[in-house]
Amino acid sequence: MTTHAPSARHDGSVELVLDARAELGEGPVWDTRAGVLVWVDILAGHVHRYDPATGADSVTDVGQPVGAVGLRESGGLVLAVRDGFALLDEDGPTPRPLAAVEREDLETRMNDGEVDPAGRFWAGTMELGGALGRGSLYRLDPGGTVTRVLADVSISNGLGWSPDERTLYYIDSPTQRIDAYDYDRSNGAIANRRTVVEIEAADGLPDGLTVDAEGFLWVALWGGSTVRRYAPDGRLDQVVELPVSQVTSCAFGGSDLAELYVTSAWAGLEEQQRRAEPAAGGLFRLRPGVRGLPARRFAG
Ligand code: BGC
Ligand code: CA
Repeated sequence: MTTHAPSARHDGSVELVLDARAELGEGPVWDTRAGVLVWVDILAGHVHRYDPATGADSVTDVGQPVGAVGLRESGGLVLAVRDGFALLDEDGPTPRPLAAVEREDLETRMNDGEVDPAGRFWAGTMELGGALGRGSLYRLDPGGTVTRVLADVSISNGLGWSPDERTLYYIDSPTQRIDAYDYDRSNGAIANRRTVVEIEAADGLPDGLTVDAEGFLWVALWGGSTVRRYAPDGRLDQVVELPVSQVTSCAFGGSDLAELYVTSAWAGLEEQQRRAEPAAGGLFRLRPGVRGLPARRFAG
């Protein structure tokens, strides 16, 4: 059993802002230009845009599983779809393929992704059922070149960079860890893997993550009904409880980046569990008492 540190700055209130019933809600990213939260339902192949000003959520069906999205500097989105990287124009419903990734392997798909401090888009893959060692982590450079950064990954998940842009945090879920790498902004190279956080299996599987303005890590725990905040030295700082077990990812949003949006899923729940968690697949929001960093934009 892990000791839950007192949540000094979050008052415990979590709001269900969108009863989305997403099968596998994921990949939230706040678009400061538009004032909307972009997120995905991976298995449905849906890209959502949630506008907190109106409460409206618009959906684009991209026709295949979509693991993650990144904002583009020039407008629109970069996507990590089942077959690889693609671009989605602001007004266009159909993604344009940019670079294939494991396209001939029908048993894998792309999963979580994030734009790095230099405008490259990183996303990884997983075997559909999460079979060990079948995934990789890739980096898409602005010119369209794809580089395999890590092999022998199982469920490639959360990615985030420290505010000083010198460290990459990375989660391969079944390892039950958050690892860190030295990150070289000039060429995107990573080195010197070490473990920052270890999470007990009973507390859930580490999934998506985001780094706040103080350099602390917020990680969603799949099967753990919580989002946790960790110090960069690995100390557990806060635990936020959610009314759903499959918590998938989180991102800061709102005009002042003082709100934390949290995605969830009903995937993996038995019929009975689903009835017990009617909000599973919903989009949640809380005020954690700390601000986030603006999402970086893909430069390609
Ligand atoms: C994946 C799911 C997986 C979950 C927990 C998500 O990112 O898309 O398939 O079950 O992480 O590891
Ligand atoms: Ca994820």
